Amino acid sequence: MNIIEIIEKKRDGYPLSDEEIKFFVRGVTDGSIPDYQISSLLMAIVLNSMDDNETAVLTYEMAHSGYVQDLSMIPGLKADKHSTGGVGDKTSLVCVPVAAACGVPVAKLSGRGLGHTGGTIDKLESIPGFSADVSMYDFIKNVNEIGLCISASTAELAPADKKLYALRDVTGTVQSIPLIASSIMSKKIATGSDCIILDVKAGCGAFMKNEAEAKALADAMIKAGRAAGKKVSAVISDMNVPLGTNIGNSIEVIEAIEALKCRSESHFYDTCKKLASEMVSLSLDIDIKDAQSRCEKALESGAALEKFEKMISRQGGNSKVIEDYSLFKQPRYSYAYRAPVSGKISNIDALLCGKASCLLGAGRLDKASVLDLSAGITLKASKGDTVKKGDILACLYSDKSDISDTLHLLENSYSFEEK
Ligand code: URA
Repeated sequence: MNIIEIIEKKRDGYPLSDEEIKFFVRGVTDGSIPDYQISSLLMAIVLNSMDDNETAVLTYEMAHSGYVQDLSMIPGLKADKHSTGGVGDKTSLVCVPVAAACGVPVAKLSGRGLGHTGGTIDKLESIPGFSADVSMYDFIKNVNEIGLCISASTAELAPADKKLYALRDVTGTVQSIPLIASSIMSKKIATGSDCIILDVKAGCGAFMKNEAEAKALADAMIKAGRAAGKKVSAVISDMNVPLGTNIGNSIEVIEAIEALKCRSESHFYDTCKKLASEMVSLSLDIDIKDAQSRCEKALESGAALEKFEKMISRQGGNSKVIEDYSLFKQPRYSYAYRAPVSGKISNIDALLCGKASCLLGAGRLDKASVLDLSAGITLKASKGDTVKKGDILACLYSDKSDISDTLHLLENSYSFEEK
C-alpha cells in the first residue's frame, strides 16, 4: 500500500478501504507522510467526500491515534456536550451544572476560541484563579466527588486531528462534512464519555450556513459516534444572530450565572434547558419530559448554581464572583453604540458581531494573541425591536482607546427596516 495510490483512488471518486484509512492516519501521526501528500488527500476528500463507513473509520482511527481516556472509575454513564461553535455561545456553562445537579456525571473537555467563535475554556479562565489544566487524576476525582469537571483538551488526545486540523486551516480544506465530523467526534471519543450531546449550529455565524447542512453534519457525527459505541444525540440551533445578549469572556460567564439564577427569559436560556434535558435524558435513560422537569427543578432550587460554584472552587477559581461581578477584571473603557436610524432591527449578523468582539480583544487574531478577558459586546436591543435614532444598541468594552475598526463592523452587522 502507498499513499500515492490512496490519493489517486480518492481523486477518482472511489471509497477508501478501512486498511487504507488506517495507513493514512498512522502516517499522519508518526510523520511518515509528508504535509503535501496529506493536503492532497484532504483536498480529494473535500471534493469527493466520504461515505458513512469511511467517516466512521477515520473518526475511530483519529480517536485512537493518541491517548484514550479511561473513565471507568466513575460510576454511571458519563456525559459530554459539544457545540460546533458560535457567537455568544455560553450554553456549556449552564447546561453542564444543570445536568450534574440532576445526577449526570459530566466529564467535559473543552477548547479555546477559534476564529470569531468563542471557547468555553477562555470564558472560564476569566474567573480569577480558575484553572482548566486538570490532571487525569483530578478530572476523575472531581467528577466522582462533585459530579462535574470541565478541563482543557491536551496534546495527547487525538494527535492526528491536531495535525490534520492545522493543515486544513491553511489549505482550504476545513469545509467538508466528513472531515469536520471526524475531527470533532475523534476528540469526543478520546475523552472517554459514554454519552455525547451535540449542539450543531446553523447560520451565518457558524461553520454550517443553513439548516440542511447542519442536519447533514449532525447525521454524520451521530453515525460516527454510534459506530464507536457511544450514545449520541444532536440538537440543531440557530446561529444567524448571536446567542443571548453578551459576547466576550467574563461577560458571557456573568450571563450564564444570571441564567443559573433563573434571571433569564431569552432564547439562550431555552437553548440551555433543551441541551441539558438531552444530556439528562440520554445519560439517565429517561423520557425527555421527565428530564425537562428535573432540569427545571435543578435551576429553580439553586442546585445547578451550587454545582457551578463547587466546580469553580475545585478548579482554583474565586467563586465569590457569583455574587459580586466586580471581582472579574474590569475593562478600561466602555462605549455606547447608538442606532444610526429609526426603525425595526431586521437582523444582527452573528459573524460580524463575533469579529467585532475579537477586535475589541475578546478573541485571538493570531496564535500569539493575548486575550482581554473583560472585552466584548452587550447587545441592548434584539432582532425585531423597534428603536429610535440615537438609542443605545450595544455597549462595547475594551482596554483599547481606539475602536473605530470595531464600530465599522458593528455598523454593517445591523440591518433596519426603516419607516
Ligand atoms: N471544530 C473542530 O474541532 N474541527 C473541525 O473540523 C471544525 C470545528
